[in-house]
Amino acid sequence: MIYLARPHLSGKEWEYVKQCLDTNWISVAGDFVPQFEQKIAEYTNVQHAVAMSSGTAALHIALHTLGIGQNDAVIVPTLTFVASVNAICYTQATPIFVDVHQDTWQLDTHILENYLNIGTYAYQGNYYDKKTHKKLKAILPVHVLGNMPAMHRILELADKFNLIVVEDAAEALGSFYQNKHAGSIGKTGILSFNGNKIITTGGGGMLLTNDKQIAKHARHLIHQAKINGNEYIHDEIGFNYRLLNILAAIGVAQIEQLPYFLQKKQNIFQFYKEHLTPLGLITQKITENVRSNYWLSTFLLPDHIDKSGLLQFLQANEIEARSFWKPMHTLSMFKEFSYITQNNMAEQIYQKAISLPSGTDITETELHTVINAIKNYLKK
Ligand SMILES: Cc1ncc(COP(=O)(O)O)c(C=O)c1O
Repeated sequence: MIYLARPHLSGKEWEYVKQCLDTNWISVAGDFVPQFEQKIAEYTNVQHAVAMSSGTAALHIALHTLGIGQNDAVIVPTLTFVASVNAICYTQATPIFVDVHQDTWQLDTHILENYLNIGTYAYQGNYYDKKTHKKLKAILPVHVLGNMPAMHRILELADKFNLIVVEDAAEALGSFYQNKHAGSIGKTGILSFNGNKIITTGGGGMLLTNDKQIAKHARHLIHQAKINGNEYIHDEIGFNYRLLNILAAIGVAQIEQLPYFLQKKQNIFQFYKEHLTPLGLITQKITENVRSNYWLSTFLLPDHIDKSGLLQFLQANEIEARSFWKPMHTLSMFKEFSYITQNNMAEQIYQKAISLPSGTDITETELHTVINAIKNYLKK
């Protein structure tokens, strides 16, 4: 089987995990967690990085530490992984879905601006959604596939409409906007180290911020909000969201290989682009000023090609490819929420997009196998 993206453990993972096993430090305490946090903070150039059990947990904590709650609304692109929206719902806030740009597949800042201008009203310095009367509290741009939206526009709009920016950079470790790392641009940002990400801890996430109070509060919350000391005293409702030391050990080994992984992802993407563009497949356009990590090579099929037929054909040929996310506003549990769009680009992208095997351990022969299988299907 040629996998979509599986963990690639080619560094010191065994050595560091063995150190944990040999010394018993496999749980939440131990040196690898702060080491991993420090390495991520240095790489992303933020002052604080707080390790957590998943990217979803980090998103939840990011929103929670901003005091977002049931009277608030959070703007999020409809083309994202469900976790971005689930995290908003955990806080009881209301998501407002915005369509994505047809070429970059990122939150469309023109549609966003239009909505903010005509779909909201101001009251005492805050902006409220005209339909739900919820207070607009935050924008959650998602850096889809390692590309990023026009962040300078998002920051300008956030400033004008008194919104806080929380970046879902789950897929974007190694991506930069005007030389600033994804997740380091807003008030807070999050990364994921899920098994398919550019570096993995098996499961894990990280909250990034330059705000000392947010970092301190986040750390407190994920430790069940326990006050330091020998007594079990907790001063608010907390969470058990810590990353295990044994997983952080894998993370430390993984980040040592990040430069290689980034180069490999770019090579994979270039290879596919070179071979698939002549066949009529179209890829995501990288936004101006973005350096993408090319996390997962994804292409739009020509109109006459049936996506599910191709996916089945690839599966039968032992090639794991995937459909893109069904837009969030179409999922049953989110149907009641507003969707701001002009041409429903998210749906069109979803209908035509497939993600191809992009693991950093993929061989050149395997890449050719994928291309040949696609060619064979197109010939049918
Ligand atoms: C865009 C996006 N947001 C959030 C997440 C959630 O991260 P995790 O799986 O670590 O909880 C993921 C990936 O899984 C993702 O791709």
